[in-house]
Amino acid sequence: MEHRTVFYRAFVFSLLLLAAAVAQAGNPQRGHQIYLERCAGCHGVTGFPTMSAVPAFGRGEGMMKPDDELVAFVKRGMAVMPGYEGILTDQEIRDTLAYIRTLF
Ligand code: HEC
Repeated sequence: MEHRTVFYRAFVFSLLLLAAAVAQAGNPQRGHQIYLERCAGCHGVTGFPTMSAVPAFGRGEGMMKPDDELVAFVKRGMAVMPGYEGILTDQEIRDTLAYIRTLF
């Protein structure tokens, strides 16, 4: 194989890896809107809920876990918190978590 082709393939491959990493990480700008629409009613616009038994994201409560675990939690729901499986995609949940992480 010609050198230039090898270089080109390596370059394209690393761009794909980069794109995948960015998609994984979650986009807080997109998450902001979703948070306001779907989560702020209970968790509070600034991460301080008005109801008891709801974790305060403003203090990082409930967020000291890896994203994969939190994505699974948000899809499943618990007690009064509805599950978002089929409503939000995994990526949208990751975006929302990325936004929540800016609150504390
Ligand atoms: C109807 C109210 C309500 C809404 C809406 C709601 N939550 Fe919750 N959420 C709760 C309650 C209550 C808990 C505590 C559950 C428990 O531990 O019993 C919770 C817990 C959590 C936790 C902590 C999980 C843990 O492992 O401790 C996360 C993260 C979370 N919610 C994310 C979200 C996101 C993201 C949204 C919007 C997509 C959302 N919630 C919408 C009420 C709500």
